[in-house]
Amino acid sequence: MDIRRVDADATAEERAAVDALLGAPRSSWDGGPRGNPRDAHVSTVGGEDSRATRHLLLPALQALQARVGWISKGGLGYICDRLNVPPADAWGVATFYALLATSPRPRRVVHICDDMACKCRGADAVTAALGSHLDLCVFDRNSTGTPGNVAVPSTSAVEKLSATQQSRCDPGVGCGAGWLRSPCLGKCDQAPAALVTIAGEHPREHLLGHVTADRVQTILDGGPLDEGPQLTAPRQPVSELRLLRRVSRVDPTSLDAYRASGGFAARDKALAMGAAAVIDEMTASGLMGRGGAAFPTGRKWLAVRRETATPHYLVCNADESEPGTFKDRILMEEDPFAIVEAMTIAAFATGCEKGFIYIRGEYPLAAARLRHAIDASRDAGLLGGFDIEIRRGGGAYICGEETAVFESIEGRRGEPRNKPPFPVHAGLFGKPTLVNNVETLANVPHIILDGAAAFAAVGTPQSTGTRLFCLSGNVRFPGVYEAPMGTTLRAVIDMAGGLNEGRTLRTVLLGGAAGTFVRPDELDLKLTHEDTRAAGTTLGSGVVMVVDDTVDPRDLVLRIARFFRDESCGQCVPCRVGTVRQEEALHRMAAGRPAGGLTTEIALLDEVGATMKDASICGLGQTAYAAIESAIKRLRLYDGAGV
Ligand SMILES: Cc1cc2nc3c(=O)[nH]c(=O)nc-3n(C[C@H](O)[C@H](O)[C@H](O)COP(=O)(O)O)c2cc1C
Ligand code: SF4
Ligand code: FES
Repeated sequence: MDIRRVDADATAEERAAVDALLGAPRSSWDGGPRGNPRDAHVSTVGGEDSRATRHLLLPALQALQARVGWISKGGLGYICDRLNVPPADAWGVATFYALLATSPRPRRVVHICDDMACKCRGADAVTAALGSHLDLCVFDRNSTGTPGNVAVPSTSAVEKLSATQQSRCDPGVGCGAGWLRSPCLGKCDQAPAALVTIAGEHPREHLLGHVTADRVQTILDGGPLDEGPQLTAPRQPVSELRLLRRVSRVDPTSLDAYRASGGFAARDKALAMGAAAVIDEMTASGLMGRGGAAFPTGRKWLAVRRETATPHYLVCNADESEPGTFKDRILMEEDPFAIVEAMTIAAFATGCEKGFIYIRGEYPLAAARLRHAIDASRDAGLLGGFDIEIRRGGGAYICGEETAVFESIEGRRGEPRNKPPFPVHAGLFGKPTLVNNVETLANVPHIILDGAAAFAAVGTPQSTGTRLFCLSGNVRFPGVYEAPMGTTLRAVIDMAGGLNEGRTLRTVLLGGAAGTFVRPDELDLKLTHEDTRAAGTTLGSGVVMVVDDTVDPRDLVLRIARFFRDESCGQCVPCRVGTVRQEEALHRMAAGRPAGGLTTEIALLDEVGATMKDASICGLGQTAYAAIESAIKRLRLYDGAGV
């Protein structure tokens, strides 16, 4: 791909997809027909105007992908014309996101999760069964995909297909349906999970749980999309719940129902208290961010409030791509108005004029519910002068890192920025920005309504409030559970029904792929920031993935290594190279062929891990060895002394 204009033309369908988002071109300067004499004299979209539209690059690429199933050269060129972005630059963005395809991809695609929680619950059997039927249609999520292996099978290969499969073959494009592997889809409570995307004039996306090979096969064959139950109600009495109290009890699509359940009372109270008092209350509550970094929320709010540069932006981080995490999805799907209300309070307190919800691309229902909640709240005049826009991710874990979110919203590759400057000083579009996680925000109305003291009375002095735990893997009732900070790991696992009859516990992965494995003899660990830190582990994003004796934890370790290798943005050498070397070493160890012996191999992993931790730009590289190190040293998985 070059910096010059692309010499392929967009099809009418591709133009229509892009124009539906951007509106019709105004002149030849932004992709309209050439030859209008007026355009020779006047540029209506030069300089500043064209730079101001750059942030629409990812939405435009997503619109194209949703309409035709992939980003062709002609389609990309048309977007470049419309937004005045150099093709090489746009190509860099298009190839960054796993949900976007830059080589022909079928219109109907099933993304099957083969990540850890799904592995624990049969995902490998699903992919194995499909692989033998549909080998021509298998992609790797992160491969650029070559037309030869997927899209344009040879005549002899096509002859081997069943009649149904042959009927799906689209000349020049290939099979009309296919499947590919995906990292965690955030539906681990209903593992194994799959995301179905169907491109077209009315594109469809469905996140499915409890998938089987037969069900996927039916979908690939063009059969009906039976979504099945979307949610199991919390298995806790409502008296124990704060954040989950509306889940399955209050209609998430009704503003009236939300208000009848106390919704928007916190906003009214906050407006009456005044911004300074709201921030004081947040600080006194002791709330710490729930996105993984556990930063004190009140301090962050105050720092944004104090910034004199304008405008201030608010970003709700709903990227939730940490394997094993699905709490934010449940909140967004089941209590979307609460997120909108919390954002209006945060915006009021910190002086933000505009908010963005950056939601992972794999969450179609959550995005739809939030969109509806924003529209209904705006129509009812509840947003005041503040407004919220939804931006969807493109399938990149790194885009949850707070500065990578900014890059992605601004229309660039989601590569983290060096810090400082910190987002509170110079964040989105270079302006002071408040970034908060969905669950963090969901606590805000409760703190305002009940008061900081009541909030801080739950949990421990250093870890206040309740926490959402994502129970997955080999527990009887996977799901989201809400428990006071300080509840033991054992009690949380018991809330999810414990292990299946007759099984024994092998390990628990705490905090996700960026977390650590803990041993069965560590279940009395109190789940607080201070206790987990002291025990050399982390709460992370609330992942509690339980692994019993039906699963070989070494498979999970390999999956973690593959995840980090895939998801590293590649910007800095320690992480880009380290995640590859680490995966290679683990493969050699898993195969029983450690280079130079086990001790040498582990020493290499330690050295690579330490380098990634010390020298990587962002948290991805800094934590890429954490779970693997715990598997080696805490579980002793590789030296025969372990679980
Ligand atoms: C690789 C990486 C991925 C992250 N993904 C998320 C995410 O999906 N959601 C989230 O809220 N925070 C995520 N974070 C943490 C954010 O950088 C940031 O700390 C958080 O959004 C701040 O919100 P909080 O203070 O409310 O927790 C991620 C961090 C890293 C390093
Ligand atoms: S640590 Fe990894 S993910 Fe983070 S910026 Fe560097 S290469 Fe990218
Ligand atoms: S949805 Fe498969 S591991 Fe989370």
